[in-house]
Amino acid sequence: MSAINHQILLVSRPQGEATVDNFKLVEQPLPTAEALQDGQVLVKHHYLSLDPYMRGRMNDSRSYAEPQPLNQVMLGGTVGEVVLSKHPKFAPGDSVLGMGGWQEYSLVDANVRGALHKVDTTHIPLSAYLGAVGMPGVTAWYGLVKIIAPKAGETVVVSAASGAVGSVVGQLAKARGCRVVGFAGGADKCDYVVKELGFDACIDYKAHPDPKSLYLALKEATPQGIDGYFENVGGAILDAVMLRMNAFGRIAMCGMIAGYEGQPLPMANPSLILVSRLKIEGFIVSEHPEVWPDATQELGGMVAKGQMKFKESIAQGLASAPQAFLSLLKGKNFGKQLVKLV
Ligand SMILES: NC(=O)c1ccc[n+]([C@@H]2O[C@H](COP(=O)([O-])OP(=O)(O)OC[C@H]3O[C@@H](n4cnc5c(N)ncnc54)[C@H](OP(=O)(O)O)[C@@H]3O)[C@@H](O)[C@H]2O)c1
Repeated sequence: MSAINHQILLVSRPQGEATVDNFKLVEQPLPTAEALQDGQVLVKHHYLSLDPYMRGRMNDSRSYAEPQPLNQVMLGGTVGEVVLSKHPKFAPGDSVLGMGGWQEYSLVDANVRGALHKVDTTHIPLSAYLGAVGMPGVTAWYGLVKIIAPKAGETVVVSAASGAVGSVVGQLAKARGCRVVGFAGGADKCDYVVKELGFDACIDYKAHPDPKSLYLALKEATPQGIDGYFENVGGAILDAVMLRMNAFGRIAMCGMIAGYEGQPLPMANPSLILVSRLKIEGFIVSEHPEVWPDATQELGGMVAKGQMKFKESIAQGLASAPQAFLSLLKGKNFGKQLVKLV
């Protein structure tokens, strides 16, 4: 085992767009077996998850969560293996999921409830616990099942359809007998969404830069209107969707990535909320731990049986994390963005 733990700290807050200079790579000595306290577990990370929410944590502004403190290891989900343990429930070699952060190892107090979860990799790849069977998958499940609550035959639309959350939303909605339409950036992503993930249609919003053309493409793809919309992006896509929403439609407000670097996202026709009697509900997945068992049972079952497909963008090595994260914010990822650390 290397005696060094490489870490990435947040050292400054973005002024406008985030840059690699907001981060700093440092190293720390690893604790020895003798130094471990009762209840502590040393985890070697195999994958780090990069997620859009991290951009919000870089700011020091009011939000649903506290900002990431400066000069500390960036927060983030990780999967890996136990290398040292002084906790009776964890043994070296166990595969685990935690919030280890942007570093190669984490020292976890496993007595803290929810700090470390053992995961079964017999039928599900370890990395999927950061994607389709992890936080993004449960996010998709919550917004679709609990907010949109689609019935068979209804039309469900999702933006960022090729991504970690959007790809799961569409496949869950298809499994419930819905017509499913995605938005994605570029012909390759749209091809994947239809041919691999089984969506009924996908609109390459980049091919429709003006609102009228975007609306007409959506109209063609949604001949019966839209009953449920899972929002990941905001802006022009939301405006087009609002015009196609059926009466009593449901919108799950999951993310508005088009505005994460501070871009304004005005809504063109808010009166449609009233006219179409829409339900629009925002949610934060971490506030709904109660759905985790049901959601992961369905998601894990589908992944294990090959009924839920997913794609990963994998950056190699911890040092690549800042650039990979900035690329994610520009939509350059194709599928769940991970950093491989081993
Ligand atoms: N509410 C919650 O609890 C919760 C939990 C997890 C995630 N989320 C949200 O869910 C959304 C999707 O997250 P994810 O992890 O699945 O990410 P992702 O979809 O894997 O990656 C982000 C994607 O957003 C798309 N995008 C659309 N417009 C963009 C723009 N203007 N700038 C940059 N990217 C743009 C890009 O795809 P295209 O190339 O197709 O445009 C990009 O690949 C995000 O908004 C995230 O914040 C919310």
